[in-house]
Parts: sequence; C-alpha cells; structure tokens
Amino acid sequence: MLNAERLRASLPIYGLGEPLYFYPIIGSTNDRAADFARQGSPHGTLVVAEEQTSGRGRAGRYWFTSPDSALALSLVLRPQGLTLQTLGELTALGALAVVEALENVGIEALIKWPNDVLIHGRKVAGVLIEASWLGNELEFAILGIGVNVRPKSVPPEEEVDTPATCVEAIVGQRVDRHDLLLDVIRGVGKWYPHLGLPEMLVAWDQRLAYRGRMVKVQQLEGEVLGRVQGLAAGGSLQLTSENGETIEVAVGEVHLRPVDMSSK
Ligand code: BTN
Repeated sequence: MLNAERLRASLPIYGLGEPLYFYPIIGSTNDRAADFARQGSPHGTLVVAEEQTSGRGRAGRYWFTSPDSALALSLVLRPQGLTLQTLGELTALGALAVVEALENVGIEALIKWPNDVLIHGRKVAGVLIEASWLGNELEFAILGIGVNVRPKSVPPEEEVDTPATCVEAIVGQRVDRHDLLLDVIRGVGKWYPHLGLPEMLVAWDQRLAYRGRMVKVQQLEGEVLGRVQGLAAGGSLQLTSENGETIEVAVGEVHLRPVDMSSK
C-alpha cells in the first residue's frame, strides 16, 4: 500500500503535491481533483488513489486500476494562457514526465502521440487531461496519469485495444511506487515552465514512437493515413501521405495506431 505520509515528506516538488489527498479506494482521481479545483483548491493539488473503481481513460474508455499495483494520480493545474488548441501540450507534459521517470529505473519508453507511454510497443501508462473553461479562458486543468507498475496492474488483453505491459515486467525486479510517483511529479514540475516551448517539443519529439512507420490517425472528421515524420509546431503530428504530401494532425480527440496493427 502506498504510504501518504511517506509521499508527503517529499512534497511539494516544484510547487506540486500540496495539498495531497490520498484515498485507498475512489471512483476516479480525476473526478475528485476536479471537485477540489471547483472548490478553489490551488495549483499543484494532488490526488492519489491506491485503487479506482471507475478510472477513466481517453474517449470515455474504462481505465483499470487494481490495488497495490499501479499509480493513479491527478494534479490540479492552473496554467495561464492555454487555449483549446494548446491544451494537448499538457498531455505531452504528462507523458514526458512518465517517460523520464521510467528512464530513472533504466527503461527506455516512447510516447505514442499524443498521450500513451509505450515500452516495446506495449502500453505502460496513459495520460488524461480534463479542462474546465470560463468562456475562452481556462479555469483549471486536471492532469491524470495512470501507470501499470506490478503485473497485477496489467489489464486483460481482451479488454484493451493496445497490448499492455507493466514497469516491473521490464525491470525484472520490484520497483518502489513511492519513488516512481515522486519522479513523475518531479518531471511534471520540471517541464511545466517549458510548456509548449521549443525545448519541450524537442524532448517530446526525441521520444516519439513509430517514427518512419505508417500509421492511421482516427479523428472526428475521419481517418488519415501517413508515415510519421515527427512533431510540428504546437505538438501537431507531421505525417507524409502515400503521395508525398505533408499532413499535420492537431492534438484533439484522436486515436493513432500503426498500420500493421490496425486490425487489432
Ligand atoms: C488513457 O490512456 O486513456 C488515459 C488513462 C488515464 C488514467 C488516469 S489514472 C488517474 C486518473 N484518473 C482517472 O480516472 N483517469 C486518470
């Protein structure tokens, strides 16, 4: 079981993690963090749960969080000047923080644009941004991060559309979830002042999965097929179509998969 006092002793990090609310079991940490944010809880408020009964993934999917085996956390963020177009940069920030935390335990992970963290093509973590707007102004954003740490945290293959794995399956030994969680917070705090700046896009681009491969991107408006070139301004994904045309896909409600896996 995660120990809230142990986490609290190392928080805040870069102004994140105070206050910390810890729950042995909860519906969704994102929902609880949004409740706190609506009540005026400050930037950096952190909600951590050992188990979620209605954890949420992107596109309304269920996110599996079993006890003693995963990380499920949500941060209240109150960034200035973010728009609907640049909100996706927060997703990347979360994914980058997870990738760097994994690098600290010797794992090389990649980001499946825009928000999944993959190890050897299998999903180990996901990021979910939920935002509240006052007109065109962002009131607050909730950065939700889920990481599969122990084998028990890996959802059954038939319940997911991307094959999953966990940190310990790769490291081959026990990983301290407290240290991992604190490293994720450290990564978020470290990159936060660089949100959307060229250095953050470079770090993101360096960890981009499927570079050079054909992918299909499912958007609300339809499907786009192309070879992954890298990131463009604002964190859009740059593809080259089969007839050599450059296509840019903006972060939004999108779903990417490599073409050779698209029947899965
Ligand atoms: C995805 O890959 O679809 C995003 C998954 C995000 C899961 C995390 S777990 C903590 C936070 N609370 C939730 O209900 N969801 C996010």
